[in-house]
Amino acid sequence: MLDQRMSRPTQPGAEGPPALEFLSHGPIKAQTELASLIAEPVTANRDFFVCCHGGVPRVDVDAYRLEIEGMVRRPLRLRLGDLSPLLPETEVEATLQCAGNRRAELDDVAPVASGEPRWGASAIGNAVWRGVPLASLLDAAGVLDGATHVAFYGLDRCPHPAGITEYGASIPLRKALERNVLLAHEMNGRPLPEEHGFPLRVIVPGYIGARSVKWVQRIEVRADSSPSPFQRQAYKLISKPDPTDSDWRRAAELGELSINSAIGAPRDGAELVAGTLVVRGWAMAGGQRTVTRVEVSRDHGRTWIEATLRPGATGSWTLWEAEVALGPGSHELICRAWDSAANVQPEDPQQVWNVRGYMNHSWHRVRVWAED
Ligand code: MTE
Repeated sequence: MLDQRMSRPTQPGAEGPPALEFLSHGPIKAQTELASLIAEPVTANRDFFVCCHGGVPRVDVDAYRLEIEGMVRRPLRLRLGDLSPLLPETEVEATLQCAGNRRAELDDVAPVASGEPRWGASAIGNAVWRGVPLASLLDAAGVLDGATHVAFYGLDRCPHPAGITEYGASIPLRKALERNVLLAHEMNGRPLPEEHGFPLRVIVPGYIGARSVKWVQRIEVRADSSPSPFQRQAYKLISKPDPTDSDWRRAAELGELSINSAIGAPRDGAELVAGTLVVRGWAMAGGQRTVTRVEVSRDHGRTWIEATLRPGATGSWTLWEAEVALGPGSHELICRAWDSAANVQPEDPQQVWNVRGYMNHSWHRVRVWAED
C-alpha cells in the first residue's frame, strides 16, 4: 500500500525555487525563509515548512481506508471517496506551528538534547485547509460515554529509541468537537502535497503542530491519551538537564500553543539606512485565544511601540507591522505579543529553556545596523 521515502519534497505546480531551507533531508525538516514567510497571509504549499519524524509514505488511494474505532457505537472503515458524500465539507484557515519553532534561541542559551533540529522562527505556516470536520465523523460513529480523548495514527514509520513505531498523537475529546478541527484533503485549493500528509491529515488549530497527524489512517476514541511515544514521551517540557524516565512520565503532554511572535523584516544582521523603518512579523495565540496586541521596542523593553495588526481567523496567525525611527548605529529590535487572556511573552529565553527545546515564546530579537 505504501513505500517510505526520505527524499526532497515534491512541490506540484511550483514555479521557481521554494523558499525552503533544509535542516535535514531524512527525515525531512525544512523551514521557510523568514522574510518571505511573513510577506503573504497564506503560505504557498511549496514554501510551507515540513516536519517529519520518519519517511514520507507514498499512499495508494485505491487501497487506502480510514478506520474509526475504539469507544464508538459504529466503527467505520471508509474509502477516501466515501468521506465527502457522507459528511459536509468545510474550509478552515489555520496556522500550523511546530512545538520546536524558535528552538535555536534556546540552544544558544544552553545546548538542547542532541538530534533536535535548530529551528529558527519559521517552523510555522498558514494555509486554507478543506475537508470534513472531525466532529461530524465522530458524530457519525457515535462516541460512547466515558470517552475523553481522540487518538490519530499515521501511515509513516518513525525511528524511536524503543524501535520503529507508527507516528501517533491525540487531543482531548472536547477539542476534537470544535468545528475547526478538520480531516483535511486539500491545502490552499490543491490536494495535500505528499510531504504534508496526502491523502488525508488532521488539522488541530491552536495546538502544537505535532497533534496535526499527517497520512492519518486510524482514529481511535479512547478513555485516555494516545499510547504513542510522540504523545506520552516526546513533546513535554522538562527544565532539568538530565531527566529520568519517571520525570518524562510525570511531565504534562503539550497541547495548546503559547502566545508567540517574531520579527521577519528587517532580517537579523541587516544593514539599513537610518530613518523611519517598517518592522513586520507574525504573532500567534494558542487554543481559541486571539492576538490582541503586538509591540516593538528599540530600547531593550523600556518603551514599546504598538503595531498595526492584520488578524486572521481564530486558530490562524496575525501578521503585523510597526513604524520605528532608528538613528545611525547598532540597534536591537524586540517584539512581544499579548493574547485575549492577557498572556504576554516572557522576556528571556532562559526562563523557558527545556531539555528538548520546545515552546520558546520569549521576546524575539533582531540586531540591525543603520547607516547615516
Ligand atoms: N504526522 C505524521 N504522521 N508524522 C510526522 O512526522 N510530524 C508532526 C505533524 N504531523 C508528523 C505528523 C509535526 S512535529 C509537525 S510540526 C507537523 O506535522 C508539521 O506539518 P507539516 O510538515 O505539514 O508542516
